[in-house]
Amino acid sequence: MSTSFHSANAEKYERMASNATLNIAKTFMLDILPTITETSYILDNACGTGLLTQLIKAAHPKAHIKCADLAPGMIDIIKEKVQGLEWVNVETDVLDVRDLKTLEDNTFSHVLTNFGFSPTPDDPEGPRKAAREMWRVLREGGVTVVSTWSERSFDIALEKAALVVRPDEKPFSWGVSEDWSKGWWLMKHLEEAGFGNRVEVRSVNGRVEAKTLHELVGNMMLFKERYSEEELARLEVALKEEIRKLPQFEETEKDVGIKMVAWVGFAWK
Ligand SMILES: C[S@@+](CC[C@H](N)C(=O)[O-])C[C@H]1O[C@@H](n2cnc3c(N)ncnc32)[C@H](O)[C@@H]1O
Repeated sequence: MSTSFHSANAEKYERMASNATLNIAKTFMLDILPTITETSYILDNACGTGLLTQLIKAAHPKAHIKCADLAPGMIDIIKEKVQGLEWVNVETDVLDVRDLKTLEDNTFSHVLTNFGFSPTPDDPEGPRKAAREMWRVLREGGVTVVSTWSERSFDIALEKAALVVRPDEKPFSWGVSEDWSKGWWLMKHLEEAGFGNRVEVRSVNGRVEAKTLHELVGNMMLFKERYSEEELARLEVALKEEIRKLPQFEETEKDVGIKMVAWVGFAWK
């Protein structure tokens, strides 16, 4: 994903994400939170608005954390959270996961990268560089956790709805290789980065969710600036229809959700 996109949309990020990244993090943090001690130093890598840091602070208020993201807009939001939530021991830095240039070798006990590990059309080698950097800045005995999407079912609904509105235009896509959604791809990158056979990749179930379908569709359409008002109205109707057709869609008395599946890699140095 492009960082200019994320910087421009930082304020809207948490609504757009609709708990998709948070729900996966909540699952893998069940394993990670008990390993955090007074001597831990944690890198929240490609931190976005700091959802991981929030989970850590809830369990370990004094935990020493560095939040880094390439989008300055995201880092501004973390700074506001540091003030507003009175977080202590939290540092911030604008850094590229592919080149963590201000960070020394063997620094962190935990390097956590929740959905900040995708190739981009302009740099297909990006994940290789990022995995190598995670290994480099991790201490001996430390653990890194990296997540990627295996199944982003709502993208299918978005693409179909986009075709209803503009039948002659190729729907927007992130333009990354199919391999990115495979578990072996994540395993290979971690193994080759230096972690060797101290790697485990798990499939984790999650969900993008909101109180109502109307709210969920609204969240998903937050970044649809390229459409006219009239197109947006049609897109909303089409998106609701396409989401309802997804086998992963579920509606309960208290909310609606679309099931998603992630790969989560754990690697030890
Ligand atoms: C899907 S969001 C995930 C944010 C957060 N980790 C979470 O769990 O919600 C991806 C984040 O990666 C950041 N990002 C994209 N490319 C990056 C890069 N090359 N280096 C550092 N951060 C990057 C974006 O700005 C965005 O904040």
